[in-house]
Amino acid sequence: VSAETFEIILQPIGRRIEMPAGATVLDAARQAGVELVALCGGEGVCGACRVRLIEGRLSDPTLTETDNLPDEDLAHGYRLGCQAQILSNVRIDIPPESLTTPQRLQLEGQDASVELAPAAIPLEVAVPAPGLDDLRSDLTRLTEAAAKLSPLTLSFSRSILADLPAKLRAHNWQVRLALRQNEVVAILPPHSPLYGLAVDVGTTKLAAYLVNLETGHTAAKLGAMNPQIAYGEDVISRITYANEHAGGALTLQSRLVETLNQLASDLCVQANAQTDNIVEAVIVGNTAMHHLFTGLPVRQLGLAPYVPAVSEAMQFPAREVGLQLAAGAYVYLPPNIAGYVGADHVAMLLGAGLVETPQTVIALDIGTNTEISLFHQGRHFSCSCASGPAFEGAHIQFGMRAAPGAIERVRINGHDVQIHTIGDQAAVGLCGSGILDVVAELLHARLIDTRGVLKGTHPRLKANGSKTEFVLVLAEKSGVERDIKVSRADINEIQLAKGAIRAGIETLLAVAGVDDQAIDQFIVAGAFGTYLDLESAIRIGLFPNLPRERYRQVGNAAGSGARQLLISTHERQLAKAIVQHVEYVELAGHLAFTSVYVKALAFPSA
Ligand code: FES
Repeated sequence: VSAETFEIILQPIGRRIEMPAGATVLDAARQAGVELVALCGGEGVCGACRVRLIEGRLSDPTLTETDNLPDEDLAHGYRLGCQAQILSNVRIDIPPESLTTPQRLQLEGQDASVELAPAAIPLEVAVPAPGLDDLRSDLTRLTEAAAKLSPLTLSFSRSILADLPAKLRAHNWQVRLALRQNEVVAILPPHSPLYGLAVDVGTTKLAAYLVNLETGHTAAKLGAMNPQIAYGEDVISRITYANEHAGGALTLQSRLVETLNQLASDLCVQANAQTDNIVEAVIVGNTAMHHLFTGLPVRQLGLAPYVPAVSEAMQFPAREVGLQLAAGAYVYLPPNIAGYVGADHVAMLLGAGLVETPQTVIALDIGTNTEISLFHQGRHFSCSCASGPAFEGAHIQFGMRAAPGAIERVRINGHDVQIHTIGDQAAVGLCGSGILDVVAELLHARLIDTRGVLKGTHPRLKANGSKTEFVLVLAEKSGVERDIKVSRADINEIQLAKGAIRAGIETLLAVAGVDDQAIDQFIVAGAFGTYLDLESAIRIGLFPNLPRERYRQVGNAAGSGARQLLISTHERQLAKAIVQHVEYVELAGHLAFTSVYVKALAFPSA
């Protein structure tokens, strides 16, 4: 036994640990508390523990590895974590799909590195107290004191003035003003921090961040469900609700604002801050969420040709919509691209660092609506496709959200069916990445044909009346006391979703006149995009088959983009530039789309 130890650095989680020479990467990950998925328990047969060597020396690939990994992967340094032994100090990259869901989600929301230029900045002012020999008004004494520090002619809204006397006295004539250009948006205790609130308003989920505007640091983050779900699952049903009920739009707006207020105060509790210190907010969402939040009409959004009421950036006092932040705080909403490509897509592009690029790049965010951008030879095209909620677990017999007990990884090796659930609990259903995996594995095992029909023989294929189903988890092993199974109808839902997305990609490529193999970078954003297994996505034909290193799974880039817009007004200029430059492609109006879609519906042959 060698006493030699080496340091192993696990990226992008950023953990380091000392391990004895000859330990495997999987051993190291376990020791370091990095949850590498090891479906087969380290036997070398599931291929789930793929990692990539960046620096240093590992043992030569074993036979198991050369059997399990494509040559191209091996050439790029990919290894099986359970097989590769550590022979020097090494740096290892763990791709998101090899991590369990909770750890993949931790990768999200990394702080953006943009130059700080927030819309609101502080000005610390010492105001002389009044006395019998100094009877100036509170406002006069404050503006005269501020004039010695700043050349700006300050302006005050009525609501700020209403608070002024109490604030000056409460803080003993020493205050910190938050200035938005020359407008005073908050009067704060001396030296107290300025915060901003960034929220990604999804149709289903909200992601909220409290950001220190002076450091750019994210002080707290929280997720919540969009309360509008009670009024309709998707954008169309929300628009219908707003149209058909008196005060419907107002109800949707106030429900959302209530939840945003709750999130803002919960974030403040987490960060030990006050909502009064939140002096600016950025809200990003799809066009329908944008219109419902701002109180713009949505009727025309639901009718062809689906034009937004406003696509320009908007900013207005937060209190106008009932947001309870600093008295004079503003809300900024970046511009929308089109009726179905909203400001959240613009934020996603900013978050992924894509404003313009000489490369050929696809960037997409998979959701109920999937927005896709293609950059090629200096041009930028975008489209939206109705991919449906199947990848969120909806409309699938045993579908569920990515929560404990959800099957997130599946491998079928002959008669052996291996699953991994979130939190390693008894299986209760399938989340999006699990469903994607099942379909890919069934395809690979030739148990479904290119039309999505279950066929062949396998002990887990069972007849249920006239239908055939694949039993993924037997009742006695499941957490729901019945078989967890996948039906043809489930497979078809996945087929429709992947057909729509792939057809969107292919149509943009056709419009730009470029072949898919020319794509230099393929960026997948969003929660599902972060935890899907790339191999499965390629196997079912959701994504084109490109060398793996061209793919980048970037997490909630829309949330990162929203934070960038919060801390930097330069980013707001970039958002404007994106929208001015983009060429929107309406798929419905595109001749080739139907035939591309029909073709994209079929699964590739195994
Ligand atoms: S854990 Fe490494 S191949 Fe299964």
